Amino acid sequence: MSTDPKTLPGADPHTGNREIDPVTGYDTTGHDWGGIKELNTPFPKVALAALALTVIYSVIAWILLPAWPLGRDYTRGVLGLDQQAMAEARLRNLTDLRAGWLNRFEDPDFAALSDDPALMALAMPAADRLFQDNCSACHGRAGGGGPGFPVLHDTYWLWGGAPQDIALTLQVGINADHPETRWAQMPAFDWMADEELSEVSDYVAAMRSGEADPDGAAATLFAENCAACHGEGGVGGLMNGAPSLVDDAVIYGQDADTVMTTLLNGRQGLMPYWSDRLSDAEINALALYVARMSDAAGSTPSGATE
Ligand code: HEC
Ligand code: HEC
Repeated sequence: MSTDPKTLPGADPHTGNREIDPVTGYDTTGHDWGGIKELNTPFPKVALAALALTVIYSVIAWILLPAWPLGRDYTRGVLGLDQQAMAEARLRNLTDLRAGWLNRFEDPDFAALSDDPALMALAMPAADRLFQDNCSACHGRAGGGGPGFPVLHDTYWLWGGAPQDIALTLQVGINADHPETRWAQMPAFDWMADEELSEVSDYVAAMRSGEADPDGAAATLFAENCAACHGEGGVGGLMNGAPSLVDDAVIYGQDADTVMTTLLNGRQGLMPYWSDRLSDAEINALALYVARMSDAAGSTPSGATE
């Protein structure tokens, strides 16, 4: 008679275990812990096969691809792939491609540059990316500005809207750290009597609609305190950074309350300078881009020096 338990009557033909769990139908391993028995449910073969596959894959990967660190170096793999070198090569291609047209912007002959449609087709999309990366946070994605940040796509300029004027604004900034920065300060008039302040605020708020009384006391206050920077009657155009107070363009707001805040605290907007962050050619491309934004908006730029 056989002594192999698997052949005994009622035994599991695989384990030789004779006890079948009545609830699950599995046989048990035969281990018994105070009445609790362990079911015989082996690890699934699919999972084992998957594990074996990943091990095989990793060995192949070690051979083909960069894998093991060796102190300051690493195993390169027989395929010799190097993602850093690949990225550098791609960047070099891109820079070469760009150099083809960007070099031309080193010469700020803006008329000639914008007369070349093929050049514009390459340069303006690139300038748009520069604008989105560097300028849109303050001036808006389409140059629409916001309180404290001037609109760039209109035709009103503090410092001139010709490409060469804009290029200079970009080079040196406004109230920036650059030694030759454009300088513009709206002084605080907090020393004025409250009554005068509110008269002048109302007067300035009424200027845009042409409803300000030219013969009142406020007009005299304006002529004495403000006209030196904002021009006779507030028409601006002195190219000193002080905006016209009679046109449609507004930086901070021209309702009486905002004007009062401006008078009490003064204003000194900061436009960073870019000469250390962008190349001359990039600045010139951006200047042309901004100038064309405003040309697209219509009429000739005010205060532009051609
Ligand atoms: C940190 C915010 C900020 C960033 C970034 C910025 N600007 Fe300005 N920019 C200003 C402010 C504020 C003024 C107005 C300064 C003033 O009130 O005198 C200004 C003014 C200007 C002017 C002058 C407008 C005029 O009427 O003469 C131009 C042009 C300009 N910015 C273009 C740009 C371009 C192009 C970029 C991107 C390279 C840029 N700015 C990035 C804040 C910014
Ligand atoms: C020293 C020159 C100077 C004098 C004097 C001066 N301003 Fe200004 N003013 C400026 C400058 C520069 C700005 C722009 C500031 C900026 O953009 O950050 C400005 C801005 C303003 C603005 C904001 C305009 C806007 O679009 O939001 C108002 C309003 C204003 N000034 C009113 C006055 C009044 C009223 C007086 C006289 C009581 C006066 N200013 C005197 C230089 C001057």
